[in-house]
Amino acid sequence: MRVQVVIVGSGPSGLLLGQLLARAGIETVILEQKSQDYVLGRIRAGVIEQGAVRLLEEAGAAGRLHREGLVHDGTEIIFRGQRHRIDFKRLVGKVVTVYGQTEITRDLMDAREAIGATTIYEATDVSLHDLTSDQPTVRYVKDGVTHSVSCDYVAGCDGFHGVSRRSIPEELIQNFERVYPFGWLGVLVDQPPLSHELVYVNHERGFALCSMRSPTRSRYYLQCRLDEHVEDWPDDKFYEELSRRVDPAARANLKPGVSIEKSIAPLRSFVAEPMRYGNLFLAGDAAHIVPPTGAKGLNLAASDVFYLSQALVERYRKGSTKGLDGYAEKALARVWKAERFSWWMTSLLHRFPESSGFDQRIQAAELDYLFSSEAAQTALAENYVGLPY
Ligand code: APR
Ligand code: PHB
Repeated sequence: MRVQVVIVGSGPSGLLLGQLLARAGIETVILEQKSQDYVLGRIRAGVIEQGAVRLLEEAGAAGRLHREGLVHDGTEIIFRGQRHRIDFKRLVGKVVTVYGQTEITRDLMDAREAIGATTIYEATDVSLHDLTSDQPTVRYVKDGVTHSVSCDYVAGCDGFHGVSRRSIPEELIQNFERVYPFGWLGVLVDQPPLSHELVYVNHERGFALCSMRSPTRSRYYLQCRLDEHVEDWPDDKFYEELSRRVDPAARANLKPGVSIEKSIAPLRSFVAEPMRYGNLFLAGDAAHIVPPTGAKGLNLAASDVFYLSQALVERYRKGSTKGLDGYAEKALARVWKAERFSWWMTSLLHRFPESSGFDQRIQAAELDYLFSSEAAQTALAENYVGLPY
């Protein structure tokens, strides 16, 4: 088999890239190691920037997002029991859309099926070869049979644990990483959200976040220790702890329910440089991870895909590799801005086990400054709704 671009991974990055390339008449195959049901069963974040919405529109996959997504003009932060609102729309004239990443994945899969493009699920042992030649090949095993696909380019959209980044010789890639000393315990529940906007909480017992997926489905998170397990957190204990961390108004609206998903995720900042090796280009979580506090994971994947799709279209339409040659630098400039914002939001809102009295007072001073300064709120809003790309 031969295609123009092999895409490894059918998460949001790979699927969005596949759609944008298909629109330009570029032929792709997606190789995904898991089953379609497994990919659709993963619960991920759900705040979408306007830039990502625009790309989904271009990909022909934004219909349901526009019908079912919740447009949020701002967000709230609780500190010392007081609620403070950051009004995105007034401060920077932009909004975000709350819509589950799982739903985006589903919409993109449906769009791919509608155009008849190929995705091979349960493709195991994917390996990349001859990446510095003009004819890379990608091998995989399906139902016990080894297959080989030759192509012009490989898009590594296979997430943090994928094979693509690991296929780059160690001496040609540099990793930058910060691992945070806590995780997020997340619960998904069929109960109405306790507020109509997202509520972020800095509490002495730890961070909390009250988010949502729809008017009848809530998503809650609690900062937890890294050595804790979901079994340590039965539903009633979770709600008891959450109600301690929020303010009285939120407590009054909090409706406990049977959780439909419960998981613990560690928090990490990670960037691999460069995002290219020969004719392999990395995009999304394959190249970088942000802690979820800034809601940037999917949005950053979308901006990578925007740059990469443009570069590939330019290559096939005009024969120019200028866009591909500039891809890593362009994408990384935006990646680091989102890394900075995500690190800052994480530092601002969590309780760090090792923090000294000095650190705690600096954090409180930073929050007080934020709540009293229009300029500081504007900076938060500008980053949260998404920097231009
Ligand atoms: N071979 C084939 N597929 C692979 C391999 C492999 N060796 N390793 C991983 N995959 C698949 C995974 O099963 C997954 O479906 O690649 C896909 C990667 O998807 P994601 O992890 O979702 O990464 P990405 O598409 O870059 O999405 C960006 O936004 O909210 C954030 O982190 C969140 O996943 C999210 C990200
Ligand atoms: C979510 O709804 O899952 C969510 C929202 C905002 C974040 C992180 C996660 O910052």
